[in-house]
Amino acid sequence: MNISQFVLASRPIGLPTSDNFRLEKISLGELKENEVLLKSWYISVDPYMRGRMNSVKSYAASFEVDQPIKGGILAKVIESKSKSVLAGDVVVGTLPWATYSIEKADNLRKVDVQKIPPGYYLGILGMPGITAYFGMMEICKPVKGDTVVISGAAGAVGIVAGQIAKLQGTRVIGIAGSDEKCRLLKEQFGFDEAINYKTSKSIRKELAILCPEGVDAYFDNVGGEITEAVAANLDFHARIALCGQISQYNNAKPYVGYSILPHLLTRSVLLQGFIVSNYSTRFGEAVSHLTQWLNEGKLKYTETILDGFDKLPDAFLGLFSGKNQGKMLIKTE
Ligand SMILES: NC(=O)c1ccc[n+]([C@@H]2O[C@H](COP(=O)([O-])OP(=O)(O)OC[C@H]3O[C@@H](n4cnc5c(N)ncnc54)[C@H](OP(=O)(O)O)[C@@H]3O)[C@@H](O)[C@H]2O)c1
Repeated sequence: MNISQFVLASRPIGLPTSDNFRLEKISLGELKENEVLLKSWYISVDPYMRGRMNSVKSYAASFEVDQPIKGGILAKVIESKSKSVLAGDVVVGTLPWATYSIEKADNLRKVDVQKIPPGYYLGILGMPGITAYFGMMEICKPVKGDTVVISGAAGAVGIVAGQIAKLQGTRVIGIAGSDEKCRLLKEQFGFDEAINYKTSKSIRKELAILCPEGVDAYFDNVGGEITEAVAANLDFHARIALCGQISQYNNAKPYVGYSILPHLLTRSVLLQGFIVSNYSTRFGEAVSHLTQWLNEGKLKYTETILDGFDKLPDAFLGLFSGKNQGKMLIKTE
């Protein structure tokens, strides 16, 4: 069987381009015992994949040049040599960016797409939602009356993190990259305020006006100047969940900003970096809360879905210019 796949053509320096990816046609082998043939249906693109394009050792292994890119995929089982995963099932796994693939059934998780939109298993009920849940509940630890700030607020993680903070009785301020995203945060996702960091004359001053008593918790998805502006507005004993630093992922040279450390010191701030996999033994707890809130209408979600397998590099690159609202996905059919 002939299939298409994207491989890493070269390692990017700075912002990746479509030249860093190559579309190839290959032939798939035969199914062995306990394996299934999968047709990719929804494919996730995520900012952390930028780090995997480098050769630097990190928490996630590097992609190899000339080898397929791998990521979160929702797929239909076309054929099965497994007793636990059958033809017709829909599954989630870490799979190659390919139209079809062969995988061991043990590496896949079956999901029910009758009542839940399929892409949600790669978003609010998948890695981004789980990240938002643990970063907010375990590190930001919001309590009623707190003021919570979220950067990257209109993305896959941020939209969920902000709504979880609202559910705890807090006042939530989102920071995002367009007026349209800020409007969406307030009108559809219940954020109290939103700042467009691309047009703001001073994020630090805007925050000072919006948070006269200071920021109690900060969920950081972006780092850089936005984080510096939030740091200047932190209250005593504030908590920072260091989730992502997307503003820095394409820097060829290390960023040298002004140090936020004096603010953290003088205000006794607790800052904790985390990787969602730190909580892998508790994923079930997060998914069960997120599912319940979703079913009760307490959480809402949105996706930006591009049609066509060949759009994968565009979708990935779009993350770095804010082309997505909520989860960025590719739909193959
Ligand atoms: N620690 C973990 O385990 C973990 C797990 C998942 C994700 N993350 C991190 O969490 C962050 C959000 O991930 P996500 O999946 O929710 O991505 P996302 O928000 O859906 O997509 C990325 C967004 O980042 C914003 N952005 C891009 N470049 C930026 C810049 N230079 N400055 C400020 N904002 C910028 C864009 O929105 P705007 O229009 O607002 O610019 C874009 O839509 C990422 O940093 C990611 O690496 C960490």
